Amino acid sequence: MKKIIIAIDGYSACGKSTTAKKVAAALNYRYIDSGAMYRAVTLYFLDQFVELTNPKAVEDALKNIEIDFRFNEKKGRSDTYLNGLNVEDEIRTMRVSQIVSQVSALPAVRRAMVAQQQRMGKQRGIVMDGRDIGTAVFPDAEVKVFMTADITIRAYRRQQELLEKGEMFDLDEIIENLKSRDYIDTHRSESPLVQAPDAYFLDTSFLTIDEQVEYVLQLATSKIIEK
Ligand code: DC
Repeated sequence: MKKIIIAIDGYSACGKSTTAKKVAAALNYRYIDSGAMYRAVTLYFLDQFVELTNPKAVEDALKNIEIDFRFNEKKGRSDTYLNGLNVEDEIRTMRVSQIVSQVSALPAVRRAMVAQQQRMGKQRGIVMDGRDIGTAVFPDAEVKVFMTADITIRAYRRQQELLEKGEMFDLDEIIENLKSRDYIDTHRSESPLVQAPDAYFLDTSFLTIDEQVEYVLQLATSKIIEK
């Protein structure tokens, strides 16, 4: 059977990664969370006090960063590793969320991550979610989906996720964070968040996860069996 690439792009917190993970599991494909890679770079920059306005410092820091994903048997999920250390929980904190859009807007950071993502997709048979997967990373992906959802619903979902990890934030604070990330993600000069012309548009505001997964799986199946 033909192995394809499924690119899921869209705004923060509209269910991209949950959908992508389930689609990958159903097809026995590899799931790659490209946002986790930008988050890992951000964590490194924060911990090492890398000055974002100093291109040389950014380039040098990028040479010292190695990111990979390893399956966590105990938790039944794929964890993000930064230079051999499991940073899966740390990269999801507000400390990282508050600055990740600034870090991921840096052209040098994007070049390094896109190159690594393209290497990961060489064998195809992957589902990758992010902001520029269908436009910059895999413009030839067989299935492209562009997701959005109402901002209050997205904020509420993110609030629940943070609560589960013991972080408590006002809905308004989360809405502000999402809005500012949306703004930076859609206005940066290098590969901004934009719907690819051949992407399917999916508003997940009133959809269940199962409905979202079903939608993507139907698109994928038609491509996988296509001659
Ligand atoms: O999907 P996420 O919220 O974990 O992504 C974190 C940030 O990383 C997001 O604000 C924008 C950036 N990002 C990006 O610029 N390009 C991607 N392909 C994925 C994420």
